[in-house]
Formats: sequence, C-alpha cells, structure tokens
Amino acid sequence: MSDKCILVTGGAGYIGSHACIELLQANYRVVVLDNLSNSKAESLARVEKITGKVPVFIQGDVRDSQVLSDIFTQYDIYAVMHFAGLKAVGESCLLPTKYYQNNVGGTLVLVEVMAKFGVKKIIFSSSATVYGEPDTVKYTETLPVYGATNPYGKSKAMSEDILKDLAAADVLANDKMPWKVILLRYFNPIGAHISGLIGEDPNGTPNNLIPYVSQVAVGKLERLSVFGDDYPTIDGTGVRDYIHVVDLVKGHLAALQSFEGMSGCKAYNLGAGKGYSVLQIIAAFERHTDNKIPYQIVARRIGDIAENYADPSLALRELNWQTEKNLDDMVSDTWRWQSQNPNGYEVN
Ligand code: NAD
Ligand code: WQD
Repeated sequence: MSDKCILVTGGAGYIGSHACIELLQANYRVVVLDNLSNSKAESLARVEKITGKVPVFIQGDVRDSQVLSDIFTQYDIYAVMHFAGLKAVGESCLLPTKYYQNNVGGTLVLVEVMAKFGVKKIIFSSSATVYGEPDTVKYTETLPVYGATNPYGKSKAMSEDILKDLAAADVLANDKMPWKVILLRYFNPIGAHISGLIGEDPNGTPNNLIPYVSQVAVGKLERLSVFGDDYPTIDGTGVRDYIHVVDLVKGHLAALQSFEGMSGCKAYNLGAGKGYSVLQIIAAFERHTDNKIPYQIVARRIGDIAENYADPSLALRELNWQTEKNLDDMVSDTWRWQSQNPNGYEVN
C-alpha cells in the first residue's frame, strides 16, 4: 500500500485504464496523460465508478515537453508507467514515420523531461514482438532483441535501446541517482475488468483475434477469418500466449515495488507461459457465449509466425509475479465487457 504518485501515460487506453484501477486500489495516486488518439475519456469515468477514486486526467501529448514539465512541476511523481503509443501493426507498415514519431519520439521527449525533474524510474510497455522471429517458440529474455518484422515492433525495440542506453550512461558516470528502467515485454493481452465496465474498445474493424471473435459473438461481425490451418501446431492454426489484462497490470505493480532494490535496466516477459490455438480460442468463446462462432479458413496472414509463448520464470523469480487467471477467465471477462458494451464506450 502506498500514497506515491504515478504518472500513467496512455492511461485512458485499454491496458492503461486497467493499470489505473490496480494503482488506485493499492492506494497510489494517479496522474493520467493521454491525447485520446485511440481512447475515450469515458474509460476514466468508469475507472472512477469501479474504484470510487478519481485519477487526475490531463489531455495532452507525451511529445509535448511543456505539458510534461507542468505535470512534473505540479505533482510529486515517483515513477512513470509509459503506456502511450500507437500499436496497429498493419498501419505501422503503411505509415512508418507516424509510428517512429509517436512511439520513439514520445519516449525520447518523456525521458528528457523526466531526467530534468530528477524522476528516473520508468516502466515501459514493450512487446514480445521485439524478439523478431527467433528459432524457438518459447521466448526467454536472453534472446536477442533483433529483427522485429514491422515498424511498430521496431519502434518498441528502438525505445528499449534508448532506455537501455540511458541506464548504461548513468553507470558510466557513476550517477548517485541512476535511472531505474523496467522493460515489460507483453505477450497477447486480452480480457477485461471483472466488472464488465472497462475493456478493449478498438476503432473500426478489429485486427486482432480476440476483439474480432467477440464482435462476431455479439453479432456485429458476420464471421471470423482464420488465417491459416497448415502451421506446425496442435491443430494447424496459430498459437499465442494470451495473458489476462488484469494479470498483466499486476505485473506492473510488482515491477513498481521492485524499484527499491534495483538499479540499471531490467527486461521481463509478461505472459502465461503457455499457448492456445485460434481454434481453441473459438471453442472457448462458443462455451461461454452459447453461440456458434461462424468462421472460415483463409490464407496465412503475411508476417505471422506459427507459435510463441513466454518463459515467464524470470518475472516469478525476481518480481514474485505470475499469472493467476486462466483462459476461461479471459474469455468470460471479455464477453461480459463486449455483451454489456456492444459499441464499446460509445453511448449504446
Ligand atoms: P491503447 O491504444 O488502448 O492505449 C494507448 C493509449 O495511448 C491510448 O489511450 C492513446 O490515446 C494514447 N496515446 C497514444 N499516443 C499518445 C501520445 N503521443 N500522447 C499521449 N497519449 C497517447 O493500447 P493498449 O493496448 O492499451 O497498449 C498500451 C501500450 O502497450 C502501448 O504502448 C502498446 O504498444 C503496448 N503493447 C500493447 C499490446 C497489446 O496487444 N494490446 C501488446 C504489447 C505491447
Ligand atoms: C493472434 C492469432 C493470427 C485475427 C499482435 C501484434 C503484437 C502484439 C499483440 C502489440 C494469430 C490469428 C487473428 C483474425 C486470425 N501487439 N488471427 N484471424 O499477431 O499474435 O500479435 O498483437 O505489441 O505485436 O502483432 O495477435 O490477435 O492479431 O493474432 O486467425 O482475424 O490469431 O493469425 O495466429 P498477434 P493477433
């Protein structure tokens, strides 16, 4: 329990809003900075409804050093959780500079202002995508961060590099107040808060499996296209490590607590450590919704890999964190959110 103040960039978004809940419930104070480019302020109204506490909300851009300076002047920020970023892989291939500008540029401006104000603790939302296409399906943190296959993934790897270099520079300079950097590499976050009040609310037609399946289940989309059934996996369809968003944000709170004894830069996988295929996900949705999920098998999606899952043992050893929720929790919580809010945060 704590009354420390945390700056949550991107706090109105899917993962950031769930982080706000866990932080407020653990008695942290929360300042959210979000430009609402991919979210709605309604998510924070729901956070208030769930927790009975009000996060401070500043609508602004993480690339705006003046807004950041004002925040660090006004609030005694202990650490930053940096969720703000663009995340659509396909869009990043069409508009690469938008992604480098927003994700890398945003990280750069943020850390410069943080350093100016002597706030040198950051938890960064990285991704398993930074491992590229390694020759293994089980990813450990010792794999090289190399070969991300799209500008989004590269923007995460570049941001990691910036943060690693900052931490290394302080070691070189023997800085008495060195950077403490925690890179959290997420696998596939899904699910929603158990209240059904907040969840993932993608703009337009979803690109990712879970929001697509749940919109088919709720009748907004007609049928799912399964991208390939000829992979060398349990049933030929792609296998991923799905992690409940509440487990994921609990990993961030564990990371926050580990700042006390650490220095430099540490990277952790946040995943469940096991994978499910697309057909297994469809079957789980059918169980929980009592509906058939119409689907068709189509060609593989360019850039997809067959299978991956996390080795999450380092996070267990060093952060005392592991996932607690199973696939049924992930699917039933997704369904509660989707069925209660068929149009997301739009007035239904
Ligand atoms: P999201 O789009 O729901 O949330 C990101 C939030 O950041 C949004 O509210 C958006 O408005 C805000 N934002 C974007 N650019 C900004 C800027 N320049 N200034 C201020 N606010 C800005 O996405 P999410 O799923 O919650 O992801 C959060 C973070 O986790 C992202 O950095 C994402 O890349 C990373 N991540 C997500 C996944 C995933 O599958 N959801 C996986 C790995 C990593
Ligand atoms: C999962 C599986 C698809 C949609 C992406 C990003 C990654 C990370 C998480 C941020 C695959 C299959 C999907 C559909 C399908 N994000 N699928 N039909 O590709 O593992 O990861 O989100 O960092 O960077 O790349 O997730 O949900 O898109 O796909 O058959 O309509 O579902 O082929 O096997 P992915 P996903």
